Amino acid sequence: MDRSPIGVFDSGLGGLTVVRELEKLLPNEDIVYFGDTARVPYGSRSRETILRYAQQDMNFLLSKNVKMIIAACGTVSSVYGNGESLSVPYTGVVKPAAAAAVKATKNAKIGITGTQATIASRSYAKEIGRELCDAKLFEKACSLFVPLVENGFVDPQDPLPEMVVRRYLEYMLEEGIDTLILGCTHFPILAPIISKVMGDGVTLIDPGAETARFAADMLKERGLLSDSQNKGSHSFFVSDRTEGFSAVAGTFLGEDISGSVNRVDISSL
Ligand code: DGL
Repeated sequence: MDRSPIGVFDSGLGGLTVVRELEKLLPNEDIVYFGDTARVPYGSRSRETILRYAQQDMNFLLSKNVKMIIAACGTVSSVYGNGESLSVPYTGVVKPAAAAAVKATKNAKIGITGTQATIASRSYAKEIGRELCDAKLFEKACSLFVPLVENGFVDPQDPLPEMVVRRYLEYMLEEGIDTLILGCTHFPILAPIISKVMGDGVTLIDPGAETARFAADMLKERGLLSDSQNKGSHSFFVSDRTEGFSAVAGTFLGEDISGSVNRVDISSL
């Protein structure tokens, strides 16, 4: 049993897709979230920069005495190893999402979306290839999705995000995919729009939800779940202004979190 918080980080809002699912699965757990909003996006940066940022993000979470770290970021998960140098258990999002895609596909035609860095790393493709060597994979960096989400263009009635989604993904429909990995944790926030474009015949894989389940199992197996009977407390930290984050995050999580969002400077960590 361990009542310390679970640490979750991302470059911005995307990691909330993990938090939302953790809240459902483990309502009594405390969560500390860090979104590196001053330095988002990570996906267009070099491997060295992403690794440096990720290390600082994790140092911040460790300073909050977390019992586990979740890199709720496809980009970090694609370039960072498996966390063996950390003093607490670690997971990224690639393995859980790739495993879910392998399970979901019937025709072995899988679309993979992500940031530039994620697609360049071929992290999802490598994971899928271990289980399903004859899979036909269609990989696409969707660089405009993150700015759409960070700026709140997430309304399924709005023609703008729908047009962008169509531009990137329509060709995958022509290729006949039946499964699509939303390989960046920002992308499930656009899921209603993506599913409108892709239709019922394509199963969307949400790395946030898959990773939350995977992390919950890890904590259970290691005897690290909290024994608290009270609803867990959730605190949010960002590296830039809190207002924009609070507004979009509050809408996404379905609660007003503005009182629990604080700004921190992690550049010296
Ligand atoms: N949400 C992140 C990911 O899963 C990062 C997006 C970005 O900062 O470019 O890749």
